[in-house]
Amino acid sequence: MRIFLSPPHLAGTEAEYLQKALDSKYIAPAGPLLDQLEQRIAERSGFRHALALQSGTAALHLGIRHLIDTRHPVNYPQPPLVLASSLSFIASIAPALQMGCEVRLIDAEEDSWTLDPVLLSHALAEARAEERPVLAVLPTDLYGQRSDIQAIHGLCAPHGIPILCDAAEALGAVHTVDHPPHPRAEIYSLNGNKIITASAGGLLVSDDGELIAHARKLSMQAREPVAHYEHCELGYNYRMSHLLAGVALAQLDVLDDRVMKRRAIFQGYQERLNGIPGISFMPEAPWNRATRWLTVLRLDSRESTCTPEDLRLHLERHDIESRRVWKPLHQQPVLRNLRMYTQGVSDRIYAEGLCLPSGSALTEADLERICGLIQEWICG
Ligand SMILES: Cc1ncc(COP(=O)(O)O)c(C=O)c1O
Repeated sequence: MRIFLSPPHLAGTEAEYLQKALDSKYIAPAGPLLDQLEQRIAERSGFRHALALQSGTAALHLGIRHLIDTRHPVNYPQPPLVLASSLSFIASIAPALQMGCEVRLIDAEEDSWTLDPVLLSHALAEARAEERPVLAVLPTDLYGQRSDIQAIHGLCAPHGIPILCDAAEALGAVHTVDHPPHPRAEIYSLNGNKIITASAGGLLVSDDGELIAHARKLSMQAREPVAHYEHCELGYNYRMSHLLAGVALAQLDVLDDRVMKRRAIFQGYQERLNGIPGISFMPEAPWNRATRWLTVLRLDSRESTCTPEDLRLHLERHDIESRRVWKPLHQQPVLRNLRMYTQGVSDRIYAEGLCLPSGSALTEADLERICGLIQEWICG
């Protein structure tokens, strides 16, 4: 049977929650389970407010839109400037670009694979020298690993620059430093390959009540709070459906278990493969307890002639899905004109990295089989 990269893993209680949603008669993007989901996500993430949406991309879109509306004067001669991680999925920055922002890309650092604060400080200094206000810094929490929010906050706070954190891949990961500063807003994804899923879905969280209230209004076509249909600004249809909120709640009940399972899978890979020359894994940064949403293998090109693409094809021939690390955004043809700050780290990680099957229902036998195939391929 095919082994997928990160398939959905049912909690077993989804049907009960769906029945509750049906019983409540709210077959709509409103209802008590949506309120419950938002409350529980806020509690869980430590933010005061949460908003449930159709996707993580929608959450990013609304976050950026609010910042533009509140921080970027109309008729300002230059587009809003966003500084974002280059080692990420294109959804991190597509909404900002679609909203007319200029995005500048920042490389990852070797020790965490997340946004490099040193390069960020260069980018911020350059923006200041150009007298360009920065709308937001947008770090990506990669593969279940938190960004260095302490360092990023230290650079942004003195200049009042908001941080919009793309934590789509990091729901369940926690900072281990005491009282880490909160970003202005953070987003999570509940799409089908995430650590928990509602088949689709996204969450926007923030301590800023105005931001969440505005995003909530925008997510429902920006209808004004009057009896008839009145619109003073343009919105979107982005609210999560009540039925999916039920599925999300069932999944949220098992999030801690899923984190434990994914971390155990990572450990299983590490124990079986660590001794092989040239093999290493994505490091866990000291400021967090990562979820290991995906276990990422790295093949040192100086020690091994086997490339991640060779290995991916080898596993594919055995009906096992693996996936190359994100191709850095600065290498994407559609983004070739963006300014970037890089020292080649994400280029190397892309050239050497492979995401291995990490679904929380993966069995010991699956792990044995996958690791056996990797060993066989690399060691000949
Ligand atoms: C880093 C990152 N950002 C944004 C997204 C977008 O989330 P969604 O698929 O829920 O729109 C994803 C998920 O695919 C992601 O991995």
